[in-house]
Amino acid sequence: MPRTKKPVIEKETIENPYLSEQAKITFFRRETPDSFTIRTDYKVKHTPGQFVQIWVPGIGESPISICSWSEEFTEFHIREVGNVTKHLSQLKKGDTILIRGPYGRGYPVEKFNGKSLILIGGGCGVAPLKAVISYLEKHKEKFNDIILYFGFRSPEDICFKEDMKRWATKFELHLTVDQNPKKTKINYQVGFITDALAKSKLSPENKIVFLCGPPVMMNIAIDHLKNKGFTEDQMYISAERLMNCAIGVCGHCMINGKYTCLDGPVFRYDEVSQLPDTKK
Ligand SMILES: Cc1cc2nc3c(=O)[nH]c(=O)nc-3n(C[C@H](O)[C@H](O)[C@H](O)COP(=O)(O)OP(=O)(O)OC[C@H]3O[C@@H](n4cnc5c(N)ncnc54)[C@H](O)[C@@H]3O)c2cc1C
Ligand code: FES
Repeated sequence: MPRTKKPVIEKETIENPYLSEQAKITFFRRETPDSFTIRTDYKVKHTPGQFVQIWVPGIGESPISICSWSEEFTEFHIREVGNVTKHLSQLKKGDTILIRGPYGRGYPVEKFNGKSLILIGGGCGVAPLKAVISYLEKHKEKFNDIILYFGFRSPEDICFKEDMKRWATKFELHLTVDQNPKKTKINYQVGFITDALAKSKLSPENKIVFLCGPPVMMNIAIDHLKNKGFTEDQMYISAERLMNCAIGVCGHCMINGKYTCLDGPVFRYDEVSQLPDTKK
């Protein structure tokens, strides 16, 4: 039997999909005791809701959503929870990080010209929605009402405080904190954001809802919206799953046959509502 000849692979033609690019930190701001914003000179075209992989050599790689961008920069809002994010929290202006992406499907905001948009976010989940708001601030005239429901654990946990003030002048902003243990002087409600949503007079006509936050918050919000007559195909959720490759190879991020890194992280709710582990 003749031996099959091995194909010759030209090294130069192999593209490495894991290759990261160096990006310089041009700005660092602490937002809350456990979260911070970094601006980098990484420049990418993306859809709001997409994410990148930030790599800290020797420590690990984390998926992080793009929360703001311009022709000149890309910003990320990051909560310190473990090794990678704690390392990133110690960086300063001038340091470099390694980034690849963007990946996944974001919020299809451009599809909904002429509609009213409701954005519902909890804690760090407000970060990817901030990217949607950046788009809406530039294209406000294309949409009907823009209504924001944002909830945080306490006044000290509110991120993007300066942006919130601006958003309140441009959009209908509902801001709540679960509790106010330090009795901080505030001009917004104490209570769950989902309760504010339940009490609202929102009706489903001509509206689309984008949600991002802890799964328990999103599930309660979705139940309240359904009680008001919203259907699952009017809602888009961002699903967080443990990720590894971010390019559909390792299978770490699968929700019953769907790749969160490719098919998501943003899903139209009816695409995933029946999957057993969506409600985590
Ligand atoms: C698509 C996507 C977008 C994300 N965007 C952001 C963002 O904009 N800002 C931000 O702060 N975080 C974001 N995250 C979460 C972030 O990726 C993790 O917090 C980070 O990878 C943790 O890495 P670490 O090494 O610091 O902590 P680790 O030591 O790896 O983890 C600390 C703890 O967090 C848990 N954890 C880690 N990753 C996840 C995850 N993906 N989902 C649920 N629990 C997790 C671990 O199980 C562990 O309990 C995003 C996740 C995904 C999937
Ligand atoms: S993270 Fe590897 S398949 Fe999605």
